[in-house]
Amino acid sequence: MSKAQPQTLNDTADSQVVLQLDKLNKIFNAETPLQNHVLHDISLQVRRGELVALVGTSGSGKSTLLNLMGLLDTASSGELRIQGHLTQGMTEQQRTQLRSESIGFVFQFHHLISAFSVLDNVLMPLMLRYGKPSAEQQQYAEYLLNQVGLASFIHQPTNRISGGQQQRVAIARSLVTRPSLVLADEPTGNLDTQAADEVFSLFERFNVEHQCAIVIVTHDPRLSERCPRTIRLTDGHIVYDGASVDLPSLY
Ligand SMILES: Nc1ncnc2c1ncn2[C@@H]1O[C@H](COP(=O)(O)OP(=O)(O)OP(=O)(O)O)[C@@H](O)[C@H]1O
Ligand SMILES: [Mg+2]
Repeated sequence: MSKAQPQTLNDTADSQVVLQLDKLNKIFNAETPLQNHVLHDISLQVRRGELVALVGTSGSGKSTLLNLMGLLDTASSGELRIQGHLTQGMTEQQRTQLRSESIGFVFQFHHLISAFSVLDNVLMPLMLRYGKPSAEQQQYAEYLLNQVGLASFIHQPTNRISGGQQQRVAIARSLVTRPSLVLADEPTGNLDTQAADEVFSLFERFNVEHQCAIVIVTHDPRLSERCPRTIRLTDGHIVYDGASVDLPSLY
């Protein structure tokens, strides 16, 4: 495969493909006695507007894979493209720019800044990128908070709202930059069933309305079954990638 310049879009790329992985490997502590080959030849594509569950037992490599997809870590070998941009060979600055332009993150623990208001937490990715948010950006952040049912909480500090509400703030924050890809690592992992269902419904809604691709790690089969596609990892290998309705036989 030819090496495109990192900052140029690959003209031949299918514009519907948001994420493309080709034979990605991750080896921690390579060439030391602690060497751990965690991901093996991972190849997959995620297209615009897809909602994908990433499942597998603890230690199977889900977070490691999500961190690679989100440019939070680098692969040991293989190629990873985001919207046609080949990320291997990029400088840290180029990776940061691509990450902040194209990717939104939601983690199990929301990493909100407790002293800041709900609104300022949602605006944070824009503030980090552009400085003071514009009126339009502020309006969009308020629109998202309205969508996640938190319109009346926008000026509250985030330590005065519930865990489910905090996770909804984190979802609004992940969408404020209008990313083409949202990566969520067990976003409902520390929520009760009802809050988890509500948070998941928000992902479904944003997936349809904004056509952003979403890859969501979950241990909850009830939620993965609601994603049209499931990718299952076992010991760092993809053992299933297909329609979620066909998966239960593997559980
Ligand atoms: N920074 C690291 N250094 C060395 N090994 C690591 C590192 N991060 C993860 N690993 C190893 O990689 C393997 C996969 O870990 P990972 O966190 O990706 O699993 P996971 O599927 O997300 O598990 P869980 O469901 O428990 O979150 C584990 O064996 C883990 O010990
Ligand atoms: Mg994990």
